[in-house]
Parts: sequence; structure tokens; C-alpha cells
Amino acid sequence: MKVAVVGASGVVGEEMLRLLESSPLGEESPRVFASSRSAGSRLPWRDGEIVIEELTSGIDIAGIDVALFAAGAGVSKEWAPRFVGEGIAVVDNSSAFRMDPAVALIVPEVNGDRIPPGPAIIANPNCSTTILLLALAPLRELGTFRVFADTYQAVSGAGRAGLDALSREKSGGAFEPGNPFPFPISGNLFPLIGDPDADDGVTTEERKMLEESRKILELPDLEVSVTCVRVPVERCHAIAATLLFEDEDRTRLEGARRLLAAAPGVSVEDELTSPPTPGPLAGTHDVAVGRLRAPQPDVLQMWVVGDQILKGAALNAVQIAERWRQQ
Ligand SMILES: NC(=O)c1ccc[n+]([C@@H]2O[C@H](COP(=O)([O-])OP(=O)(O)OC[C@H]3O[C@@H](n4cnc5c(N)ncnc54)[C@H](OP(=O)(O)O)[C@@H]3O)[C@@H](O)[C@H]2O)c1
Repeated sequence: MKVAVVGASGVVGEEMLRLLESSPLGEESPRVFASSRSAGSRLPWRDGEIVIEELTSGIDIAGIDVALFAAGAGVSKEWAPRFVGEGIAVVDNSSAFRMDPAVALIVPEVNGDRIPPGPAIIANPNCSTTILLLALAPLRELGTFRVFADTYQAVSGAGRAGLDALSREKSGGAFEPGNPFPFPISGNLFPLIGDPDADDGVTTEERKMLEESRKILELPDLEVSVTCVRVPVERCHAIAATLLFEDEDRTRLEGARRLLAAAPGVSVEDELTSPPTPGPLAGTHDVAVGRLRAPQPDVLQMWVVGDQILKGAALNAVQIAERWRQQ
């Protein structure tokens, strides 16, 4: 099985390589691609190194079985169909194909049975969507609900440029508008991730969480009202979610604890005075759920934290590819 990683020099790509080292997909060393900026550089691979190739017309991609894309929507739009045309399955981390009705949008624990066999584009959801849905999907058993959520999104969600901006500003460097953030991030936070819609004010990031949740859960009428906030944290997104149920049920909190304790990819950390926080969860695979409470009998609230580079991107993609291979 020959794997390729497109965008291997980025924050998601480098985690993909670390995961592949211990995956059955990594028996052979992968091919790694990026732009001309990092072509020729070397990346660590087990005890040795592999050289980054430039993704450019004329490259020979014959012999690759599955490609993990983490290089942005523009690269995916141009290159993913070409890879599939050469018989390669593509797991794409960008937003390019997520809402295409012909493309499966997958969180393996939730809808892994939708992974298509054979070469096709398979989309990885937005990182906040994945983290929220791991906790939300099991709770469907408790009744019909609408969701209100606020995200607290780490700077690495905006790639290496986001990490660089926080580090630059923290060490006294100037705020550089648009590189990549619209506001200073050190000692600050801002509720504007993506572009706001001129009509309803909802940002592209917030709309992704609504539309992708509906598609993955196959609940076209689900209401998910979100405010996405960027915070000066390096890694791990956190989400405060409130579920408003159609009916009242005083046993719901107990049911939620039971369902979440059994849910794959979820760890319940529900000690009253020690909720999960981003720092210690960096590098972990499960999403952690805490602050579970039901202040009214039709309300359930929770706090969900997950490593968005791993489960929100690289890990989810590798898990999809592993399941695709088993089919
Ligand atoms: N960061 C996250 O938490 C996260 C979560 C979910 C999804 N994603 C998605 O994952 C993708 C990668 O994000 P990231 O955070 O890893 O970004 P990043 O750190 O900025 O890395 C971007 C990667 O794409 C490569 N690239 C850029 N332009 C290219 C081109 N024209 N041809 C080939 N390679 C090119 C870069 O290579 P060079 O080194 O040559 O520039 C680099 O390897 C994006 O679609 C993002 O939306 C990210």
C-alpha cells in the first residue's frame, strides 16, 4: 500500500506522517508533496528522512493507492480529481468537496459505513464539526434537539501561519493584519472566523458546522447555531454546547453520561471542579467531554475539547484511509 501526503510540510501534514509511522498504511515509506517553497526539504520518517516533492504538472503519481490531502481548498480542487482519475483514493482535509452531494463526508465513529470502496474523494469535516459531532452523535438517542454552541478555537487551526502569528505577537512583534488573522491574537480573542455573510451575519466557519453536521448525521432539519471564536491557545479546540430538547426528561443527564461513556472516540472527564482543558489534551486522540449538566429538564449542556490537528484533521483522515483499505 503506497500512501501520499499532499501538504506534508504543514501542521496537519506533519501529524499525518507521525500517525502513518505506526499505521499499517505506513509499511512502505510515503511519497510527500508540497509547494515549490519546501520542495527538496527533508522530513523525518522513522529512523531516516524523506524528501518533499513539488506538486507540479508532470509528476508521476502512478503506484500511489491512497493520498491524504492537507494543502488547502485550491490545491484540492485542482489535484484531487486528477489523483482519483489515476485510480487513487483521496482523503481531503479541505472544504473543497465537503458539501458535494456525490462526496462522502466522514467521521468514522459516526458514519464510517458511508466510506465508498474504490478510488473516490472522501472528505474530512471541519475540525470543530468533528469534535462536536463525536459528543453529539450518541445523544441522538435521548430525543430531538437543537444545538447552540460557542467554539474556542486554537491558533493552529489556521495552520503554521496561525502559530507564527501568536508566537510573533507574544514576543513583542507587530500585529500583521491578515497574516493570517484580522485582529491581534496575543492577549486577545475575536468572534470572527471566516467571512460573515452580508445578509445574515453568519460566518463561513459557522455555516460549515451547521451544514456539515446536517450532512453527517443525515438530519437535514437539525438547527445548529454557532459562534466561532479564535483564542490565543496553540492547540486544541474547545466547544461549549447547549442542547435544547423538544420535551422535558429528568433522567436525560444520566442517559447522556451512559451514552457518552460508551461512545467511541470520547472520554468523559466530568469531575465537577476539573473540566478538560486544551493544554493537557494536546496530542491526544479522544475528545474529552466535561461540565455535563441539565439546568432545566429540556436542556443538556456540555464542554467538549479535542486536538483539532489530530481528531479534527490528521487522525480522522488516517482512520478513514485505514477503514477504506479494509473494504
Ligand atoms: N490546522 C488545522 O487544525 C486543520 C484542521 C482541519 C482541517 N485543516 C485543513 O487542512 C489543510 C492544511 O492545513 P494546515 O493547517 O496544515 O496548513 P499549513 O500549516 O499552512 O500547511 C499547508 C501545507 O500546504 C502546502 N501547500 C500550500 N500551497 C501548496 C501548493 N500550491 N502545492 C502544494 N502544496 C501546497 C504547504 O506547503 P509549503 O510548505 O510548500 O508551503 C504546506 O505543506 C487545510 O485545507 C486546512 O483547512 C486544518
